[in-house]
Amino acid sequence: MNNSNRKILVCCGTGCLANNSFEVYTKLKEKLKDTKIAVQPLVKATGCNGLCEKGPVVKILPDDISYFKVSTKDVDAIVEKTILNGEIIDKLLYYDTNEKKKLISHKDATFYKHQQKISLRNIGEVDPLLIEDYLERDGYKALRKVLFEMTSEEIIDVIEASGLRGRGGAGFPTGSKWRTCYKYNNFPKYIVCNGDEGDPGAFMDRSIMEGDPNTVIEGMIICGYAIKSHKGYLYIRDEYELARKNMQIAIDNAKKHGYLGENIIGSNFDFDLEIVRGGGAFVCGESSALMASIEGNVGEPRAKYIRSVEKGLWNQPTILNNVETWANIPPIISNGAKWFKSIGIENNSGTKVFSLVGKVKNTGLVEVPMGTKLRELVFDIGGGIIKDRPFKAIQTGGPSGGCIPKEHLDISLDFDSLSNIGSMMGSGGVIVMDDTTCMVELARYYMEFLSEESCGKCTTCREGIKIMLEILTNITKGEGELEDIELLLDLSETISNASLCGLGKTAPNPVITTIKYFKDEYIDHIVNQKCNAGICKKLTSYYIEEEICIGCGLCAKKCPTNAITGIKKEPHIINADICVKCGACFTNCPTGAVKIGGVVVESKN
Ligand SMILES: Cc1cc2nc3c(=O)[nH]c(=O)nc-3n(C[C@H](O)[C@H](O)[C@H](O)COP(=O)(O)O)c2cc1C
Ligand code: SF4
Ligand code: SF4
Ligand code: FES
Repeated sequence: MNNSNRKILVCCGTGCLANNSFEVYTKLKEKLKDTKIAVQPLVKATGCNGLCEKGPVVKILPDDISYFKVSTKDVDAIVEKTILNGEIIDKLLYYDTNEKKKLISHKDATFYKHQQKISLRNIGEVDPLLIEDYLERDGYKALRKVLFEMTSEEIIDVIEASGLRGRGGAGFPTGSKWRTCYKYNNFPKYIVCNGDEGDPGAFMDRSIMEGDPNTVIEGMIICGYAIKSHKGYLYIRDEYELARKNMQIAIDNAKKHGYLGENIIGSNFDFDLEIVRGGGAFVCGESSALMASIEGNVGEPRAKYIRSVEKGLWNQPTILNNVETWANIPPIISNGAKWFKSIGIENNSGTKVFSLVGKVKNTGLVEVPMGTKLRELVFDIGGGIIKDRPFKAIQTGGPSGGCIPKEHLDISLDFDSLSNIGSMMGSGGVIVMDDTTCMVELARYYMEFLSEESCGKCTTCREGIKIMLEILTNITKGEGELEDIELLLDLSETISNASLCGLGKTAPNPVITTIKYFKDEYIDHIVNQKCNAGICKKLTSYYIEEEICIGCGLCAKKCPTNAITGIKKEPHIINADICVKCGACFTNCPTGAVKIGGVVVESKN
C-alpha cells in the first residue's frame, strides 16, 4: 500500500471512548512506529461517526475501508494485513442488515446512504483539537467572507433568506431573531450558544461540540459581527466534560490563529468567547433560565413579556441559538441562501440531526433533509425494529414531546407536520418503541422526569404534574378509574395554559398524545386490568398456549424461579404462584407460545 497520503481515523467520540477507542488509537500509533514503513500513515482521533453502538470505528483513507467494533487486539492485524498488504479484514467490516451483506466502505451502508450532512459535515473527518484540520476543510472561510465582503444587513439577509429555523426546539426563524436584535442600539450585546441538551437520549449537540467545535465558534463570531456584539458565551451541560474540554482547546487555538480576540484576522473586529458550565437542571436549557444561570443566579425561567433579543443577559440585547443552529451558519454563508433552501421542504429548509434510539436495529446520530419520512428514518436508516417485532410508536421532541403511532409512519419530519399531530421536533431526540412498550407507563415515566425537573415556581407545573404522576402511577398499578382519563386531559389543559415556561406548557404532551392514540391501553389497564406490553407487573401474567408450544424447554431453562414445568416435546405450563413476571420466557420462546394475560386471581391453595 502507498502510504504517502494515507490517513487512519480512529473515532474518539464519547461512545467509542467508552469502548476503549483511545487505547486503539494509542496502540495503532505505537505499532506503526515499530513497523518498518517508508512513509508512516497519519493516525488521527476524530469525533463521533454516528454509529456508536458499533464502535470503536476506524476508517482508512483514501482506500475508504471502515472497520467497526475494533479492539486493541485487532491493531496488529490492521497494520500487518491492511496497511502493509492491502488485505481487508472481513470480521471487522460492517454488516448491513438491510442489504444483508458486509460492506468495505461505511458510506455504502443504508444507515449512511440516506443522510445528508451539513452540521455534521466535519465530524468523524477532522481531529477536533487541530484547527489546521478545520481550515483544510474550508473552515473560517465564511468568517473571512463576512468580515471583508459583507455588511451586517447582507449577512442577516442571507440567514433570513435561507429559511434557517432554530434547531433547539421551537423552530423560530434565526434570521428574524438576528434582525430584531441588530435593530436595538443598546450596547453591549451578547451572543449565547445553548449547549445544555437535557433531553434523555439526545446527543446531537454534544457530538458537534466534541467533534467539530470550530464550526460553532465560527457561527457565533459571524453573528457577533452581524449584530455588533463582542462577547459570546457557550453554556454547556454540566455532564459534558469532553465537549467543554474540546471547546476550550478550540477557543484557545482560534485565539492563537487570530480568529478570536482583538482585530480578528486584521479586520478591526473584536470578539471573544467564554465557556459557562451548565447548572445541572433540565430547565436551565430554557432561554431565560439559562441567562439567569450565566449571570450567576438560580436557573429559573422568568416571564417573557420582554424578549431576550431586547433584554437578555444583564438586560442587554442577546441572541441565543442552539449548537446545531450555529453549526449551520458557516455553510449557509459560504454556499448561499439558495443552496440551503434547496435542501429540505417549503418552510423547513436544510437538514435536521436526530439521535435515533430505542428498539431500532441501528441506533445513532443521523442527519437527514427536513421532510424525510419517518418510515425512512426508522426502517431504512434505523434498519427496522429489533428482532423484527411490530413497530408501535415513536416519541419525538424529548420529555415534553408526543407519541406518534404507526398510522403516521409516513409523516414528514419537519417542525410543522410534527406539531400538527400533537408532537414536536424538539431538539431531535427520536425514541422508537415496539409492542413491548406500555404507553401508560411511558407517559408515567415522562411525568416523573418532569415533576423532578420542574423548578417549582408555578403551582400548576409543580403540583399539577405531581397529581398527573399520581393518577398515572395508580393506573399502572391497576388502581385507576375510567374518570381518570378525563381528569388527566383537564389537568393537561390547565397546566399548559397556566404555566410560565415551555417546560410546564408542554409537559402534558406525552399524556395527551398517548390518550389520543392509545386510549385502548388506558382502558385495558383500568377496566380489563391488563397491560398488554407486559410492563406493568401488577397487571401482567404469563401463560403458555398449548397449541403453539413445541415443548423445547427453552423458557424453563431461562426462568429464574423454576416456575415452568413440562415434558420435552409436550406443552409446558407456568405456575403463576412462583412466577415473578420477569418476562424471560416471553422474550425467549422461539414459537411465540408464551402469552401475556391480565391480573391473575390468586390461587386458593
Ligand atoms: C424546559 C426547556 C428546556 C430547553 N432545553 C434546551 C436545550 O437543552 N438546548 C437548546 O438548544 N434549547 C433548549 N430549549 C429551547 C430554548 O429555550 C431556546 O428556544 C433555544 O435555545 C433557542 O435556540 P434556537 O432558536 O437556535 O433553537 C429548551 C426550552 C425549554 C422550555
Ligand atoms: S412552568 Fe414549571 S419549570 Fe417553568 S417556570 Fe413554571 S414551575 Fe418552573
Ligand atoms: S415470566 Fe419469568 S419467572 Fe415467570 S415463568 Fe416466565 S421466565 Fe419464569
Ligand atoms: S463515538 Fe464513535 S461512532 Fe459515535
